[in-house]
Amino acid sequence: MTAHADSTRIRHLLTLEGLPRETIAGLLERAEAVLPHAHGGTAKRGVLAGKAVCTLFFEPSTRTRSSFQLAAMRLGADVLDFNAASSSSKKGESDADTLRTLEAMGVQGFVVRHARDGAVAELASIAGDGTSLVNAGDGRHAHPTQGLLDMLTLRQAKGPDFGRLKVLIVGDVKHSRVARSDLHALRTLGAGEIRVCGPSALLPEPGVLEGCTVTTDLDAALDGVDAVMALRLQHERMESGLVSSLEDYRRDYGLSARRLRIAAADAVVMHPGPMNRGVEIDADVADGPQSRILSQVANGVAVRMAVLEALLARA
Ligand code: CP
Repeated sequence: MTAHADSTRIRHLLTLEGLPRETIAGLLERAEAVLPHAHGGTAKRGVLAGKAVCTLFFEPSTRTRSSFQLAAMRLGADVLDFNAASSSSKKGESDADTLRTLEAMGVQGFVVRHARDGAVAELASIAGDGTSLVNAGDGRHAHPTQGLLDMLTLRQAKGPDFGRLKVLIVGDVKHSRVARSDLHALRTLGAGEIRVCGPSALLPEPGVLEGCTVTTDLDAALDGVDAVMALRLQHERMESGLVSSLEDYRRDYGLSARRLRIAAADAVVMHPGPMNRGVEIDADVADGPQSRILSQVANGVAVRMAVLEALLARA
């Protein structure tokens, strides 16, 4: 089960694929409304009072796990951080038994990251009636809240009319769940032109790229774009030999200040993090005036507040 037809009636959030435009827009509007509460203050603390949320991460994370924890705390939930490395998963306990065990303790909301495509949907399929799951990234499949926070960041920078925008996604698209969620969201919100660029070995199967202009030439791809979304080289998901060397990759696909000048003068630069500085993005671009990378991080708390509220505050 994925999210349903309006942002107040979501059971689980597993993917942005197929999510109606009004649901995505509703979550973005809700996130904008809670932004003033996302980095302090107590005005939203009652929303999830008495609820328990667990960040159940079987893969490492800095941004997603921390921002979900802060989001849940800002809404007044009790927050449990599951550490896979020191848990009974290490003794062979199954993911399903882990979920059921934590459910039995009264956890109603699970934020789950997993290395395997589809693992979070499998857990959602066995969850009890009162339990909601958010996919915090499964394999290369989906990272829906990253997609939402990227759309919020784009909307803040460029306004709500996505039809005017030329957006470029560049890098290791093949292994990127962020790219897949961004592509679903950009298509649903009606982005004017979506360009995708990377070495052919790091481009995904054609279905993922439906409706996109695809090229291996980064200078051509950058021409006149309003936003550049650079992706991390995902060494942990990559078979060896796909990239000849990091130096070659940087030369051909690294976002440098020189290259950024090919984009529109007011183009914004985004990256989901963590960054390989000096590989897919140069430090002066990541830290420069066109960068919105820390805005993405900041927006993550508000987006995750909106999502947790939509899932768990129904009753
Ligand atoms: N963007 C992202 O998912 O970052 P983390 O892996 O640090 O959560």
